[in-house]
Amino acid sequence: MFSSFDLIKVKKFLKPTLQEKWPLFWGLIRSLFFGLQGGGYAIAMKLAVDSVVEGNEIMFLYGVGIMAVLMLLSTLPNYFFRNMNNLYFRGLQKYFYNIYIDKYFQLENNLTDSKGTGYFNNIIQRGGDNWASLLSTINGSGLQVIIRIIVAIGLFMTYTGWIGTILVLFVFIISFVIAQYGNKKMIPLRKEMRDFFTQADKDIVRLIMSKFEVLANGRIGFELKKLDVIFDNILVRRYRESFIRIFTFDVQKLSINIMQILLLLYVGYGVLNGQYEVGLLAMVWMLSNQINGSVQDLNDYITDFYSRITYVEKLRETFDDAPLIQGYDTGKEFIYKRGDIVLDTVTYDYGKGEVLKDFSLSIQGGKKTALVGISGSGKSTLMKLIAGYIHPQFGTISVDKQELPNGQNTHFISLKSYYQHIGYLTQEPSVFDGSIYDNLLYALNYEPNDKKIQQVLSDAQCQFVLDFPDGLGSQIGEKGIRLSGGQRQRLAIAKIMLKNPNIILLDEPTSALDSFSEEEVTKAFDNLAKGKTVIIIAHRLQTVKQADTILVLDQGKIIEQGNHIELVKKKGSYAKMLELQSGF
Ligand SMILES: Nc1ncnc2c1ncn2[C@@H]1O[C@H](COP(=O)(O)OP(=O)(O)OP(=O)(O)O)[C@@H](O)[C@H]1O
Ligand SMILES: [Mg+2]
Repeated sequence: MFSSFDLIKVKKFLKPTLQEKWPLFWGLIRSLFFGLQGGGYAIAMKLAVDSVVEGNEIMFLYGVGIMAVLMLLSTLPNYFFRNMNNLYFRGLQKYFYNIYIDKYFQLENNLTDSKGTGYFNNIIQRGGDNWASLLSTINGSGLQVIIRIIVAIGLFMTYTGWIGTILVLFVFIISFVIAQYGNKKMIPLRKEMRDFFTQADKDIVRLIMSKFEVLANGRIGFELKKLDVIFDNILVRRYRESFIRIFTFDVQKLSINIMQILLLLYVGYGVLNGQYEVGLLAMVWMLSNQINGSVQDLNDYITDFYSRITYVEKLRETFDDAPLIQGYDTGKEFIYKRGDIVLDTVTYDYGKGEVLKDFSLSIQGGKKTALVGISGSGKSTLMKLIAGYIHPQFGTISVDKQELPNGQNTHFISLKSYYQHIGYLTQEPSVFDGSIYDNLLYALNYEPNDKKIQQVLSDAQCQFVLDFPDGLGSQIGEKGIRLSGGQRQRLAIAKIMLKNPNIILLDEPTSALDSFSEEEVTKAFDNLAKGKTVIIIAHRLQTVKQADTILVLDQGKIIEQGNHIELVKKKGSYAKMLELQSGF
């Protein structure tokens, strides 16, 4: 981003600073105070030394007194300033998380669905934190360093005239250029390191999630070795980085030290010749030390900047020009009529080959349609398409003759309005941290009465929640009770029953349930779904026997279609599957 100076990019980078106006203001005051303080010290020192030489005790004490006051002032208010900086950092962090998590939800699902979870987590967190940290460093102390350098150079100018100033400026510019040369050389290394860190982050998440798998297969050592390799790769880059550092930063430090000696000689001879007072020598020494320290600080900031900016860059690259969901908020309001769903020559590809190709299908509204077929045949993909969660690369999908957005069409309905009419139980339903009650009501914008909740709990076979110590108020999720697979599924079913939508999409809703619960839940669903459009995916054919239409999918194609009796008669794939399942 900053490999070439680009004003627009710099502006974009700095723009968030205005988010937190008061902490920003106090940061500026702090920078100004500490920036000027160095100059104050130097002047007071000169005064003190000159007064000693002149034998003026009062002026000497006066000079020392100023230094003491400046020292005190720099310690006490620091607590306040630091907390203002903490506040500033927190404000920026909040700002970035708000923006980028929101952007994540706006990203086209086709993109997010094929990337996996760890990926975006890493980019948002590292990107947001590093950006906030960079800006708060500038506000906290970066600016102060620059003011300090300017003040020091200004004082040189005032007290020693051009010669000293030119010397300082010259060395300053040379050392800065050398350091920047080093930084530039390190940019590609930093990017590589960032990618290795991202890899390590993802691997660690994957490892933690697969504890049993790793334990049971005795693969701890193997996995750790894989991580070792990543960190070795980072180490190799650190070696190279150090190599560059030695030939740039150390040369730069040396040049500054030489400048200090030259200045000392120059002013020292000036004192010997009676041109300057002795105090100036002390002052110059102090100022040159300050410049030395400030230049080091500045270089540290800039080095830090180049390594952190790679994460900011990744954040911006990932989100700024990424394709967004078309028509979540925009588009026409969806009007439900009967729930007729039509897919017209739909093609979908996750990026690794077409899962569905020129796929056309008409689903009658108000009926129950079942999707069956071997694993990987494209059932869930079809469901996600109908739910408007992903959109086809080619072809259209319409519900009651209203097109879902597909990234290319101009007449489409808003997904938000569509979602009010659908209940979609995904293959791996999630529960959120919170109470069971909160989870149940997640889809609603009103509070149902107790009777209704009790009814749904019983229909969805969720009586188990009443056995929990706090009943509906029990906390579930990471911080609470961990539900079993089947319990999670039943809770998700209850959620949909409460929402009571017109179109119900169920991706293996009962796959984790025992036969008894499965039958009960199916019955309840059939009750609820009378006259509604239901599409259900199931492996156990018992569950879909009652469906009005059964579609058998194989490798993205419908190979059989009909009701149970028709399909049994046909003695094709369906009949074969049925035979296999009842073969005991
Ligand atoms: N998020 C994804 N990213 C990339 N490829 C995917 C993704 N989801 C599914 N696929 C691929 O698409 C194909 C169809 O998958 P889909 O999930 O639709 O199958 P399915 O019929 O629902 O299978 P199952 O019965 O196992 O749930 C598979 O080959 C799978 O590898
Ligand atoms: Mg599936």
